[in-house]
Amino acid sequence: MNDLLTIEDLGADGINEIMLTADSMAEVSARPIPKVPALRGKTVASMFFEDSTRTRTSFETAAKRLSADVLNFSASSSSVNKGESLRDTVETIEAMGVDAIIVRHRSSGAPRQVAQWAEAPVINAGDGWHAHPTQSLLDAYTIRAEGRDFEGLNIAIVGDVSHSRVARSNIEAFSVLGANVTLVAPPTLLPPHVEALGATVSHSLDAVLAETDVLYLLRMQHERMDQALVPSLGEYHRTFGLTPERAKQLPSNALIMHPGPMNRGIEISPEVIDDPRVRVLNQVANGVVVRMAVLYLVVGSNGGVI
Ligand code: CP
Repeated sequence: MNDLLTIEDLGADGINEIMLTADSMAEVSARPIPKVPALRGKTVASMFFEDSTRTRTSFETAAKRLSADVLNFSASSSSVNKGESLRDTVETIEAMGVDAIIVRHRSSGAPRQVAQWAEAPVINAGDGWHAHPTQSLLDAYTIRAEGRDFEGLNIAIVGDVSHSRVARSNIEAFSVLGANVTLVAPPTLLPPHVEALGATVSHSLDAVLAETDVLYLLRMQHERMDQALVPSLGEYHRTFGLTPERAKQLPSNALIMHPGPMNRGIEISPEVIDDPRVRVLNQVANGVVVRMAVLYLVVGSNGGVI
């Protein structure tokens, strides 16, 4: 594997290869000392031009478990603030000698652009509204880890589809693996030509709950909205939030997922967060092993030692 920019680039075979490799990484992570020398001597640059908690720390943990060195770059404390361009910044970091570049950027397409400038492989850690492939891989891994077969699985993705790179990547990943994906949102939170995304659309969460195997709640992305797209957040919660009453309508073995960070009281009621069907922290834990797999496959090993 070279760059990892989108789920589309991977296809079902690529996703399945990462899942199988992640199984080995899960075994490593369960050891008393969860560290192997697979990427010893390699350096991974972690370049975040936009805020992150999960993705940044998860990649860093993954790289360290594989014994890679991590070169951390944070735009907020860098010469980007003095006007240095993205290209000059990337070329500067690469000149220090790196074996892979992880990029998060607020602009859609930035990681692909970086991949054209850099010799080292590039991993997209989330770009604008466009794609977040490792989030989708960890989400798919989490569903698979529950023993669910994707073929015919009913997955409802609820909320702010319009601004969500997670939604776009998850629609691609879940669909190519065989699931039936339904997008549930008010029309104002769906992108134009939503039908081109290849999913069914519903404007009623109540109408789909009983038939849903996986309920995937999206974050309301206030920072990406330049106008009020819902009457109020309280109104959104009443119509599209997972309340205790709605949670009762879900099948008893349904999975409830959210990429984080959660807006408690908007996408999900605080009382529902402790529901035993919620898998949010499993998603976080699986993020480490999936990103170990991605780094291992992208950067290569010093002899396949895992
Ligand atoms: N899910 C996700 O991408 O979270 P962060 O923004 O915290 O990385």
